[in-house]
Amino acid sequence: MKKRDFLKTGLLGLGALLITRKTDALEYYPTVKNSEWAILYGTWCGSSRDAGVWISEGMDGIADVFDVRENPDLTKYKNIVIGGSIRSGVTSKELQDYLTSHKEMLGGKIRGLFAVCGNMKRPITQNLYPTYFDNHLTKLSGAGKVPSRVFLGRITWGLMEPAVRDQMKSMPGMDEYDNLKRSECMEFGKEIMKSVK
Ligand SMILES: Cc1cc2nc3c(=O)[nH]c(=O)nc-3n(C[C@H](O)[C@H](O)[C@H](O)COP(=O)(O)O)c2cc1C
Repeated sequence: MKKRDFLKTGLLGLGALLITRKTDALEYYPTVKNSEWAILYGTWCGSSRDAGVWISEGMDGIADVFDVRENPDLTKYKNIVIGGSIRSGVTSKELQDYLTSHKEMLGGKIRGLFAVCGNMKRPITQNLYPTYFDNHLTKLSGAGKVPSRVFLGRITWGLMEPAVRDQMKSMPGMDEYDNLKRSECMEFGKEIMKSVK
């Protein structure tokens, strides 16, 4: 191969690699897509990502699902569902910052809110709703009265930041668990769709 051809092939290969890199992120391609719906989540280890995807599945897979760390532009969406995992009683700083700085854009578009928490492996109770919604997500996002749901989440040691994992492991009785249920998330997706009909 001539030197010039070699360089050309190399550059083309690099270009293809760069294009491939751009599409590396988890992308979901629903059979039926309605570009009016988006789900935005804040997560550390993925529980709220799965909750978001499963809520979308309950909505027959119509929503685009975004991690807030991608800082997505949601201006084109008419309907948005927002949720996040809980640490020390609140969602991630990234989600809180996004909601604060995009409050105006989000205003009037929010159709549902959700939170994912451990709740010490105990069942979800009504007293969590004012804590995670009225005094937190609703306030930050400016959402109106929309369907809201708290889900039990999970702990996966291998996905956790090492320092946090060590701290968590030192807590008596703390172990891995998985209480997030696809059926409950899907049911919430259906409830949201019903609420806008
Ligand atoms: C450092 C840390 C703090 C947590 N704080 C709370 C809390 O205040 N209340 C609660 O109910 N669950 C708490 N949890 C449990 C998480 O909300 C639950 O495991 C959730 O599914 C984690 O979401 P993620 O997969 O996005 O990390 C905490 C978990 C960790 C690791």
